[in-house]
Amino acid sequence: MDLPKIHSITKKILVALLGGFLLLFLLFHATANLFILRHDEGAWYSAFCHFMGTNWIVKIFEIVLLGVIVLHILLTLWLALTNRLARPTRYHQAQKSKTHSTSKLMVWSGILIFVCLIIHFCDFYFVKLGWVKGEYMVKTEKLQSQEIMGLVQYSQQMGMTPEEMIDELEAKSAMYADENGDNDEVAQYISNMRDQLGVINIVQRASEEGNITGDGQWIRHLTYDERQTLKRVLPESDSEPDFYYMAREKFSHWHIVLGYLIFFFVIFMHLRHAFPSAFQTLGLNNYKYNNIIEVLGKLYTWLVVLMFAAVPILVYLGL
Ligand code: HEM
Repeated sequence: MDLPKIHSITKKILVALLGGFLLLFLLFHATANLFILRHDEGAWYSAFCHFMGTNWIVKIFEIVLLGVIVLHILLTLWLALTNRLARPTRYHQAQKSKTHSTSKLMVWSGILIFVCLIIHFCDFYFVKLGWVKGEYMVKTEKLQSQEIMGLVQYSQQMGMTPEEMIDELEAKSAMYADENGDNDEVAQYISNMRDQLGVINIVQRASEEGNITGDGQWIRHLTYDERQTLKRVLPESDSEPDFYYMAREKFSHWHIVLGYLIFFFVIFMHLRHAFPSAFQTLGLNNYKYNNIIEVLGKLYTWLVVLMFAAVPILVYLGL
């Protein structure tokens, strides 16, 4: 098989540089996750996620990040493949060298991390893209601007409930349809009004119970069905994923906590070797600094993995 010719040293340097970028991202991500541990109904974490979801510089960074992940994986696999192709016939005796087993470990742990990452995206990131279902929150001020508010006020002036207004509108449109045939626009309008009325009723109930707050988190007091109604009826832009609530909900199940801990263990294995080997590839190590790099690598790995692991463990324990 003919693969494009890029010197394997160049590939290795690229893998190390991209990996270095990912090391920085992981530290950032693990630190931000600690906001989930605050018992503030998600005030800090939601504000952080809102910023991450709306700032255009962050959006560009997100695309770069996903590109870096894909490129890092492809280059590593390519390196492994070219190494294999360079020696089509296997050694008669299995190699016992440390470098060989480390690079094998890096490839396999990398593949496992990729699989876990896809599962992780299904848990959170894909919710933001609207690819999987999740929990959302709605800003209170968005509800004030709904068309239905006008109908509610008008029905009050007419001395009717909004439901009675809509029933009357429907009866009239049915009579009109008998005489002139169906009118899709009117039917659509009535169906919209009913949907929005459903929203009003939900909001009214929540407000009677004193649960409405201006920050959108009041939606957590609703039932699952009510939240889904809001999500369905309101425009996409009026709601955003509630990652704080979702993380706390997910980490209340032991099997999800266990799954994530396995994920972090694989990351631990990968990072243990990633840090010093990136320094080695980039030629930044020498006998003077080797010990410092080794200690820094251990510190970094333990710090990041413990910060990640603290979130599911402490949330599960209710701390
Ligand atoms: C306690 C553990 C973790 C939690 C609670 C968590 C939570 C989240 C959340 C809520 C998002 C979506 C954020 C947004 O797009 O606004 C996200 C995205 C992401 N996570 Fe995690 N994560 C965890 C661990 C990890 C680990 C270990 C990795 C990497 C190996 C990772 C890699 C990513 C990536 C690449 C994204 C997409 C880019 C981004 O949105 O920043 N996460 N994570």
